[in-house]
Order: sequence, then C-alpha cells, then structure tokens
Amino acid sequence: MASEHNQLSRFLLVLAIVLFRYVTSDINDGNFAGNNFNRLDTEALYHLSQDQFPETYNYAPLHPVENHLWQSPENLGEISGVAVDPSGNPVIFHRGDRTWNYETFNDNAEYQEKYKGPIRNDTVLTLDPKTGDIIRGWGNHTFYLPHGIHIDNLGNIWLTDIALHQVFKYSASGIPRLILGQRFEPGNDMEHFCQPTSVAVLPNGEIVVADGYCNNRIMLFDKRGNPKYSIGEHWISLRIPHALTILPNRQVCIADRENLRIVCLDVISSGLNRNPESPYSIRHRQFGRIFGVTSYRGFIYAVNGMTSKNIQIKGFTIDPINRNVTEIWGPESLPFTMPHAIAACPYGTALYVSEIGPNKIWKFDLLQT
Ligand SMILES: *[C@@H]1O[C@H](CO)[C@@H](O)[C@H](O)[C@H]1NC(C)=O
Ligand SMILES: *[C@@H]1O[C@H](CO)[C@@H](O)[C@H](O)[C@H]1NC(C)=O
Ligand SMILES: *[C@@H]1O[C@H](CO)[C@@H](O)[C@H](O)[C@H]1NC(C)=O
Repeated sequence: MASEHNQLSRFLLVLAIVLFRYVTSDINDGNFAGNNFNRLDTEALYHLSQDQFPETYNYAPLHPVENHLWQSPENLGEISGVAVDPSGNPVIFHRGDRTWNYETFNDNAEYQEKYKGPIRNDTVLTLDPKTGDIIRGWGNHTFYLPHGIHIDNLGNIWLTDIALHQVFKYSASGIPRLILGQRFEPGNDMEHFCQPTSVAVLPNGEIVVADGYCNNRIMLFDKRGNPKYSIGEHWISLRIPHALTILPNRQVCIADRENLRIVCLDVISSGLNRNPESPYSIRHRQFGRIFGVTSYRGFIYAVNGMTSKNIQIKGFTIDPINRNVTEIWGPESLPFTMPHAIAACPYGTALYVSEIGPNKIWKFDLLQT
C-alpha cells in the first residue's frame, strides 16, 4: 500500500508539473514550447562528451539495395524483431508456432494461452550475415509472444514479450541478467508494463522502454533497472509506440504507429533545459503506420505496414534534422507484405527488415549515394 501511495503521489506531482509547463504546447506543430519533462533526480546528469555525442553530423544517408545472395531461413514463426550484434551478425526474435489472434488476450490485456506453455523452439537466432544461415539459437521454453529485440553497444540482448508483459536483458551468450515487469501481469505503474514493444539502451546505460500497446508511454530506467520516469499519454499522446531508435545526439525516436508519425525526444538534455526543440514529430504523406525504426549516423531508416489502399508498403530514409524524407525504397524482387521491424548493422554496411507473414527477413546492402 505504501509503495502504491508513493507511486501515486509521484505520478501526480509529475503530472502537475508537466501540465503546468506544457499546457500550451502541441506536438502536432512538430515542436514544443519551453523545456520538457521534469527530472525527479540528478543521477542522469552524467558528463556529456562532444566526441561521444556529436551534435551535428556531416554524413550523407545511405541507399538500401536488396541483397540477392541472402536467403531468409525457412520454417520460422513470425519474425517480430531483428537487431544486429557488435560483430555485424543479424539476430532475430521469432514467435515459433504462436500468432496473435482474437483469443490471445482478454479485454484486460491478460494473456489467455498460458496453457500452451512457452514456445518450445529456439526463439533468438543469430544468422550468417552473408548467407542468412542460422549460426546459433537459444531462448527455447522461455517466451510466449516475442515482440522487440535490441542489442546494446556491449552486445547485451534485450527482448520484450507481450504475453509475459516483461523486458529481458541477456548477456551476449544468452545468460539472463535482468528482468523488468511482472510475469503475466499487465499494469501501468512503474513496476508493470502492458504489452511492451521495444527497448533501446542509451550510451550511458540507461534503459528506454516503449510500453506499448495499452499504456502508450515511454519509460526510462537506470542501468540497473530502477525506474526513473514515465513519459506518457498526457504529454506526447502516443498511439502504440511500436519501435525505438537512438540517434547520435541521444535523442530517442519512436515509431508512433497509429499516429502515422515518428516522434523524437531528448530524454536527458530535456531535463537540463538544453533542448527546447524536443520532442518533435516527423510526418510524411506516404508514411502510413510506421512499424519499425532504426538509425545509422544520424539518419533514420523506417518501414511502414498496411494502412490504406493508397499507401504503399515501403522503407523510408529520414533526415531528422531537416525532418524530411530523403528516399523511399523497397526490395526489387517482390514487394514488402507485412514488415514488422528493421535494424541497421553498426558498421553501416547492411540493413535488415523482418516480416510477420510471410515470415521472412530481408537483407539490404547500404551503399553510398
Ligand atoms: C521448430 O523446431 C523444429 C526442430 O528444429 C523445426 O522442425 C520446426 O520447423 C520449428 N518450427 C518453428 C515454427 O520454428
Ligand atoms: C533447449 O535446447 C537445449 C539445446 O538444444 C536443450 O539442451 C535444452 O534441454 C532445451 N531446454 C528445454 C527446457 O527443453
Ligand atoms: C530536406 O530539407 C532540407 C532543408 O530544408 C532541404 O535542403 C533538402 O533539399 C530537403 N530534402 C528533401 C529530399 O526534400
């Protein structure tokens, strides 16, 4: 009870401050007046190094071209997530024999298919970046409904499971290190998620979670997993934050799926009043529902999904500084069907797009334009 009371007063305090400060702001203008959410502690005031986080980038966006030598592995479930490890190997998170249908959750977002037990197959698979062959796999008998995968700079693997309502950190070799959220318990306080979709780790180790299908909020945790902020519905009005990516200037960009836009915000310098331009939205008439976002050297690469007849399913290259689309691209052999996630190789040589029906993974080479 005491901790619930604390949570509530903390939430009300943040809400009051946020409302007071931003009552006149409107993200649909693509801009916010004033500074951003209030910080509750000073732990995040780490030293900001210019070298580590260049404020401006002088790079050109790269041009994705389908790699025809790559072959997506066969007999996989829905490939809900893709990431690339520090060696440049793509790693996918797939659903084995499970799908998300009308019986999967009840109206309270509680998972209804526990009786099936966890997915028996390996759900986390490392692929050969040249051929697409499976190099190794793990994560059998653990997950129920995989969603997001992220690999941080140290090679740790972060996963979200929307049935378990949890976020997992594993070492590069697949040893569990941290679990956030309560097993099978949806909720909207700082200890619970509700169908969390995606994780991203800031250069200082802080953990950003997109939570998710029901709560429409972004949560920040310190590197040990202690909750710091919840940036929520009342402020940036997200509608299914589906994927996250982090730019070199530490801004977190969100695939705000049902709002047909990408939102970027600065979770650290916002609190230092350093960035009156954060958050901002990026929109384009061809976007439709943005499912996946990734970035390389300050440019965002995104994929959309089924939206309406006149919106094509494509990839987009986005310049977040000018907030415009520099290229619309896609595979040459066949069109995309249901893309779900996208990830760039840390060396900028390749881009991977996963699909959830047909279940496949595409490789694109990233070429200089
Ligand atoms: C599960 O693993 C078995 C044995 O390796 C394989 O035959 C099957 O295709 C896999 N199924 C899925 C859906 O991943
Ligand atoms: C998962 O797979 C490994 C290797 O294939 C196997 O040794 C282990 O018993 C499996 N785990 C369970 C719980 O079945
Ligand atoms: C993006 O915006 C910048 C600055 O307004 C402009 O110079 C550039 O030509 C634009 N690019 C495209 C592809 O529209």
